[in-house]
Amino acid sequence: MSAWSFDDIASQDGRLAVVTGANTGLGFETARMLAAKGAEVVLACRSAAKADDAARRIRASVAGALVHVEPLDLSDLDDVAAFAERVSSGRSRLGLLVANAGVMVPPLARTRQGFELQIGTNHLGHFALVGRLLPLLRATPNARVVVVSSLVHHFGRIDLEDLLWQRRPYQRWAAYAQSKLANLLFVREFQQRLARSGSALRVTAAHPGWSSTELQRTDGLSRFFSPYLAMTAAQGALPTMRAATDAAAEGASYWGPSGLGEMWGHPVPARQSPRARDAAVGERLWARSEELTGVRFGLDDATT
Ligand SMILES: NC(=O)c1ccc[n+]([C@@H]2O[C@H](COP(=O)([O-])OP(=O)(O)OC[C@H]3O[C@@H](n4cnc5c(N)ncnc54)[C@H](OP(=O)(O)O)[C@@H]3O)[C@@H](O)[C@H]2O)c1
Repeated sequence: MSAWSFDDIASQDGRLAVVTGANTGLGFETARMLAAKGAEVVLACRSAAKADDAARRIRASVAGALVHVEPLDLSDLDDVAAFAERVSSGRSRLGLLVANAGVMVPPLARTRQGFELQIGTNHLGHFALVGRLLPLLRATPNARVVVVSSLVHHFGRIDLEDLLWQRRPYQRWAAYAQSKLANLLFVREFQQRLARSGSALRVTAAHPGWSSTELQRTDGLSRFFSPYLAMTAAQGALPTMRAATDAAAEGASYWGPSGLGEMWGHPVPARQSPRARDAAVGERLWARSEELTGVRFGLDDATT
């Protein structure tokens, strides 16, 4: 079989999609490809000016693109709630939510609610967002949630006693790895809860290998090498597109590049670390995420 590419993406006509962090990098390319395949795309971005510019660039490259801008700051749970309220208002369907936005290895910083910035943005902000948009997603046939993780999850450990880096000395790479491992544990636990509740909603995951984007903005070394060694953002967004659109992508499947070390190449099933498949940790992380965000998915009666 030939390598999966943009040409393999099925028509997305009639599908409403929300993409977080859609103003640049992988999120921008994901939004652009979805629009090119006919989806109506909500660009969920923290900077209105950058989002407006992204919408303009998508319209310039895709004739008739249906794109809207909707402000979203994942590092503020009140803003996440307000965003979900606006998106849900007057709408009865949401076919795709791509949890793409992320920060990587910033100096220690905290979200509005005091969470360490990486777990707060990459995992907890998206956890709250998905939970708040769940009624709309569940009401939509063939809906899907895609979560963007990373190869770095292989180095991640979840510290449930100090998820927010309040006791241990902050280590920016370990904090990033923890947040990306949390992304995968969330996908697995969420899919199990969906299955138990009889929901047809599917949740999948993807990673872009190493792609040249603005993600490396706070890490000098990877920023230096990125333009020479990494894939383009458009190539890096293909695993996300496959996780979002391939009819054969099952719930909790994980997609990444095919090449050496999963750093480059076409989207194929990717490897998850044993820690990403630890159901006991996934369940405890879910409970802690509900507690921290105050968002309950209302799916599960079997556990709690
Ligand atoms: N590039 C890679 O090689 C690579 C590898 C593995 C995983 N990933 C993952 O891929 C995803 C996308 O990253 P990227 O490479 O495209 O990086 P990027 O170019 O830096 O884009 C990140 C996006 O996230 C947005 N964002 C950050 N904090 C946010 C917040 N609080 N609320 C809303 N949006 C926020 C950024 O907005 P601003 O522009 O306003 O900052 C930007 O739109 C991330 O989850 C990252 O962990 C990337």
